Amino acid sequence: MRMRRKKNLERRLDQTSALLLGRLFYGGEFNDNKPLCFREIFGNDAPVFLEIGSGKGGFAIQTARDNPDINIIALEKCENVVVTALEQAGSQPNLRFIIGIAEELPRIITSGSISGIWLNFSCPYPKKYQQNRRLTNKRFLRIYNQLLSSDAVVKQKTDNEGFFQYSRESFAENNWDIIRESVDFKSEDENEAVTEYERKFRGEGKPIYRIVAKWGGRD
Ligand SMILES: C[S@@+](CC[C@H](N)C(=O)[O-])C[C@H]1O[C@@H](n2cnc3c(N)ncnc32)[C@H](O)[C@@H]1O
Repeated sequence: MRMRRKKNLERRLDQTSALLLGRLFYGGEFNDNKPLCFREIFGNDAPVFLEIGSGKGGFAIQTARDNPDINIIALEKCENVVVTALEQAGSQPNLRFIIGIAEELPRIITSGSISGIWLNFSCPYPKKYQQNRRLTNKRFLRIYNQLLSSDAVVKQKTDNEGFFQYSRESFAENNWDIIRESVDFKSEDENEAVTEYERKFRGEGKPIYRIVAKWGGRD
């Protein structure tokens, strides 16, 4: 049964891989460590934004459709959900996917080349021993700082108050300035696409917490 599911997944990935740049795990593909050439990939010099933990891709796809003047790379470590995103995205010209982990991004993305990062409903990893997996842990903030161009921001949305508080502290302790925050964010107010998780949490009447943070430029 397990084998059949895997085979089916591989077939679906093969059929929809036009927008898939590759797999970014420890070792494996991209192992020549050559940085991605965005001009070659997208055929233009428009700014490139990154969504980390893009799940089934609804946010990245909608944002790409609504904003043809930007390019988007959506990164997600779980193949099973990326395949859904690839099937939904069709041949969206300003969107590409990577199956892989945020930890490895500096291997393939040139420093200072990203114009903004979205962290939408990242896993809160509530147990204390898991905190270095949270996507606002200092080891990830260091990576974002490296990838982002000056003045570019990280936008984080979550339904989890504990994760929101953790992120506020982590940004502040690591010299990021929180330039906007909300404890009842409405994506429609900022014309932002709604994610799959966001739709679910809103349906349950949960408030959405949101932070916009920018590197403060102090070491
Ligand atoms: C709770 S889901 C949210 C999905 C989507 N952003 C949404 O809002 O509907 C979080 C996703 O982040 C992915 N993820 C967690 N840690 C990651 C990492 N280090 N690198 C890439 N993806 C990661 C998980 O596999 C999961 O699909």
